[in-house]
Amino acid sequence: MCGIIGYVGPRDALGLLVEGLRRMEYRGYDSAGVSVVSRDGALRVAKKAGRLANLEQEIKVGNHHLVGTTGIGHTRWATHGGPTDRNAHPHLDATGTLAVIHNGIIENFAELRAELEHAGIELVSETDTEVVSHLLGRAYRGETGETAGDLEASMAAVARRLEGAFTLVAAHASEPDLLVAARRNSPLVIGVGDGEMFLASDVSAFIEFTREAVELGQDQLVVITPDGYRVSGFSGGEADARPFTVTWNLAAAEKGGHLTFMDKEIAEQPTALADTLRGHFDGTRVVLDEQRLGEDELRTIDKVFVVACGSAYHSGLVAKYAIEHWTRLPVEVELASEFRYRDPVLDRDTLVVAVSQSGETADTLEAVRHARRQRARVLAVCNTNGSQIPRESDAVLYTHAGPEIGVASTKAFLAQIAANLLVGLALAQARGTKFSDEVAREFEALERVPAAVAETLTRMDAVRALGQEIADSKAVLFLGRHVGYPVALEGALKLKELAYMHAEGFAAGELKHGPIALIEKGLPVVVVTPSPSAQPLLHSKILSNIREIQARGARTIVIGEEGDKTIAPFADFFVELPALPSLLQPLVATVPLQVLAAEIARTRGYDIDKPRNLAKSVTVE
Ligand code: F6R
Repeated sequence: MCGIIGYVGPRDALGLLVEGLRRMEYRGYDSAGVSVVSRDGALRVAKKAGRLANLEQEIKVGNHHLVGTTGIGHTRWATHGGPTDRNAHPHLDATGTLAVIHNGIIENFAELRAELEHAGIELVSETDTEVVSHLLGRAYRGETGETAGDLEASMAAVARRLEGAFTLVAAHASEPDLLVAARRNSPLVIGVGDGEMFLASDVSAFIEFTREAVELGQDQLVVITPDGYRVSGFSGGEADARPFTVTWNLAAAEKGGHLTFMDKEIAEQPTALADTLRGHFDGTRVVLDEQRLGEDELRTIDKVFVVACGSAYHSGLVAKYAIEHWTRLPVEVELASEFRYRDPVLDRDTLVVAVSQSGETADTLEAVRHARRQRARVLAVCNTNGSQIPRESDAVLYTHAGPEIGVASTKAFLAQIAANLLVGLALAQARGTKFSDEVAREFEALERVPAAVAETLTRMDAVRALGQEIADSKAVLFLGRHVGYPVALEGALKLKELAYMHAEGFAAGELKHGPIALIEKGLPVVVVTPSPSAQPLLHSKILSNIREIQARGARTIVIGEEGDKTIAPFADFFVELPALPSLLQPLVATVPLQVLAAEIARTRGYDIDKPRNLAKSVTVE
């Protein structure tokens, strides 16, 4: 996935483009580039491999004359071709007067490239995007049809030929006040200003200037000029795009005094949870945000699948325990990337819950489409208003975590767990497995969680000190039982992605079936333990697991309920959590694992907001 920005208006474009790219750097940070159209009819480009800072340096020393009020910018997560200067966007056509930026993958690019080479065009990069810039250049020059001098018609003609996922934005030297964009399967929003217009992958790129936005639909094309925008379909004709007002402001997209976005987002978790719960319960019933499914349809559901990737998948694993317990429905939690390839048994009485922070993860989106083709009902749990996954779903419950910029998910993960639990309650009330007063009691318990998370956050100094102490360990293992098991998986994922360390999460009961062989003297093992009073049986079992690993020399780091006197003697390090009902414990137990991973990564000298090789949402399969 990549970040895209475009601007037309009265301002100097360059500074605004670079600032917009900075806000979208989470979307990719292999290379970055900008192109500006000047009033004298020149189109100029600067691009550079590496972080945005490299591009800024290049602009400073490179004498690029990027002066103009129309421009485009791009921050890249490499798919076709490595992260080099040459492969960085924008890509030019053969005349150097047309520039294109792209997010997505053009699946038929090899065949299009061969066609261009046959026509004598020399391609200078290994990207699929450059193919588009040449196709567009040829169309604009009138070499391939009746579209000479018409950038909009040229883009439509090219878009119709492309297969795959793409957001494309083009600028031309002869069109100093106009940009054209096309969208299929990748996000694009229009920012509507006063005498100026923006295009971006994400509203954070232009939130400083306007909160009025328009979400472009599938297979749509847009032309922007300083005075307005016009949306059409790839085959012509006016098309409707959805206007909306962004509900958060610039401060939400900035670090607000924290060292990193991740630190800020960890600290924001109590608010993210409270905001997610707010408005989703009317005193007697759970309320979804978009409900294109009747209560009758929910009542006939006889099986639930949760499909998601990465942390969102772990949030689904937590929900499974609650949904099965509350509704007595069988719940399967599936990695979205596996779901549609194994022919799951789905029908109109199956509910597929698609969980995605971004709402644009390709694996999850394709799982949604597969489910709908099989006539299953789809309910999206999503943090991004109007993104593709909720658009294609029958019902939506939005998490209100606010923008999550740090690549590793933190506040969105906790909000996903809370929202998944609300889905469980909605099903329980529809099926009658819980009365309204019971749903209300569960909801009240959920409402106590933000304060418990805030309390947990005040206890994190010792965890940070521990992180510094164990930062040079070879590996860290994470164990848990019941809902503590997905927490262990999430803890291991955080550590892998942030600290590039070998980390594994196991169900504690599985230890003796193999993983115990990994235990050696001094190995840090994090154990998520249940409440001794709420889950005494599981508690005693995990105590045995802790003793087994301690006996073999492991350093035990126990995450447990405050005042747990039985476990403390077996903990080399004990993180005490506020007591919560068993099914809600993951919402506090995850917090120390996030903090631990961040501190270990920081001590090892890594950028915790932008871990290597990763991008915030993965729009390719
Ligand atoms: C891990 C992380 C990823 C995402 C996954 C799904 O910290 O952030 O594992 O959870 O890529 O992303 P969404 O929720 O946007 O579908």
